[in-house]
Amino acid sequence: MQDKPIGIFDSGLGGLTAVKEIVKMMPNEDIVYFGDTRRAPYGDKNREIITKYTIQILSFLKQHNIKFALAACGTISSVVEFSDLQFDIPIIGVLTSACTAALSKTQNKRIGVIATPATIKSGAYKNKILSLMPGATVYQQACPMFAPLIESGFVLSDRNLILKYAEKYLSPFKNLNIDTLVLGCTHYSIIKDIIQMVLGEKIYLIDSGKESAKFIFGQLRDRRLLSEKKSPGECRLFVSNDKHRFLETANDFLKKDVSENTHVVNIDSWS
Ligand code: DGL
Repeated sequence: MQDKPIGIFDSGLGGLTAVKEIVKMMPNEDIVYFGDTRRAPYGDKNREIITKYTIQILSFLKQHNIKFALAACGTISSVVEFSDLQFDIPIIGVLTSACTAALSKTQNKRIGVIATPATIKSGAYKNKILSLMPGATVYQQACPMFAPLIESGFVLSDRNLILKYAEKYLSPFKNLNIDTLVLGCTHYSIIKDIIQMVLGEKIYLIDSGKESAKFIFGQLRDRRLLSEKKSPGECRLFVSNDKHRFLETANDFLKKDVSENTHVVNIDSWS
């Protein structure tokens, strides 16, 4: 059981921020990753559609004999009720670990959340933070263009365009005296440097991918599911669209050429 892979999924590139940290923290774990690049972004879709996509992805990952599933996507984590899916493999999202990390970092209890429109509309991050720290003040901002720009390769081709959107989305935070900002979409960690530059060094950024890696380590350890292999783990990546665009950004972000390990899958054939 311990040596089965961890299944990680997202609408596209964002979940790689969790993959990168998991490989660093647990180098012997095998990983099967799925990025739904053909149907991304998820952030403009409704709960019903996102739930349907999640069920298809979990069926696909289950075929790979995974021991644990991580929805490395703030949108899925916010709108899908995992307990309703009746999936017989443990599944967690990125929401709780990111909110818990924000609470341990904030000094003044003033916290910002940026995420996709679907996540902000759900109020899931805000509600979670307030349930854990009722005295907190939470400011939310949807950033609808970030994930599509990242998926379309603008991190490499036109960072200035991303910077322009970052200024537009983040400027309201400058007068709100927040000390912590939750990157409530895993894609945003890929442009963390731009976000930090716009907001300045004083605001602490919570990286959902990184926090979920720490959380999943604890979960695997507590359930005695950590791999006992001594050799480096294998990471297999699957996408639902032509892989070349995905690979341009993925190889750059992971600082590794993963072309050989990346495959295309027809996700519509799963249910
Ligand atoms: N990476 C995802 C998230 O964390 C999804 C972004 C999108 O597809 O809109 O919310």
